[in-house]
Amino acid sequence: MKRRFFLKFGLSASALSFIKPSKAIDNLHGFTSNSDSIVKPIVISTWEHGMAANENAWDILSANGSSLDAVEIGVKTTEADMTNRSVGIGGRPDLSGQVTLDACIMDSNSNCGSVACLEGIKHPISVARRVMDDTPHVMLVGQGAKDFALSCGFKHIKSPIKEVKKEWREWKRGNKEKFKKPIINSENHDTIGMLALDANGNLSGACTTSGWGYKLPGRVGDSPIIGAGLFVDNEIGAACATGLGEAVIRISGSHTVVELMRQGYSPQEACKETVSRIISKHKNLDGLQVGFLALDKKGNYGAYSVFNGFNFALKKVNKSSLIDAEYNRRW
Ligand code: GLY
Repeated sequence: MKRRFFLKFGLSASALSFIKPSKAIDNLHGFTSNSDSIVKPIVISTWEHGMAANENAWDILSANGSSLDAVEIGVKTTEADMTNRSVGIGGRPDLSGQVTLDACIMDSNSNCGSVACLEGIKHPISVARRVMDDTPHVMLVGQGAKDFALSCGFKHIKSPIKEVKKEWREWKRGNKEKFKKPIINSENHDTIGMLALDANGNLSGACTTSGWGYKLPGRVGDSPIIGAGLFVDNEIGAACATGLGEAVIRISGSHTVVELMRQGYSPQEACKETVSRIISKHKNLDGLQVGFLALDKKGNYGAYSVFNGFNFALKKVNKSSLIDAEYNRRW
């Protein structure tokens, strides 16, 4: 429910609809820079939980650190928050009561690492980074990912946490449906995706989630899939996704956003066009919330979602804010 309070902030989408993003000059959301100057360092991340995550990322960026270190440290903030029910081991479990985590990371050299369906490890993003740094692979899943994490010295942590287990038991008792349908914006899929441009002009991104609460065991969303939940091309820009992972995977969402930027779309226009593709591929949009964030090489950023309710956190020199994304429709 926390995510809803953002409606109190900022302008409505209709008030902004007359602003064409590619022409906007330092518009109210500051999406597009009005000169050849590069805004750096800068970090953006999904949802309100991105505010705290950005602060920790900023400690790295403002000390001339790399965007890769910044995004890892940044999203670890959210993974460590045991009150967060959609990221890290404080997240909701699958149907069988097991919390399984998905994460990925990508740097400016197109190196990437990913873990999916990882159980009992506090910082899946750091395991993903070790997959990237220390193995010839990109993705490890399930028990293999867990064994790898333990071999790297990560400690097993019991999950779900007590409160979450209680909630899951109550849900099981009362639930007659096979799946719990996610409650749009407020409950599920509130991945933290983070994109950063460092002082040296290099882009990186990270993405981490516990996924769809009460999902089928073995379900993996978009967040650990390079090209779906996250994509970085240091020549062009970076993008990440939040929301219903199945819909994001279907169109290789984050890769699509970056490729549109390569064709000349602004980050904002690229996110909007990618959302349009999702909408055009689904007859029934009930509960289908997806949001994209994008950042280009000049520090221009954009965000767009299917429904209202998506917001993102921005941090750059002298500015830290939570911004409502533009959207296609009201729910
Ligand atoms: N976007 C996160 C998920 O669907 O799991």
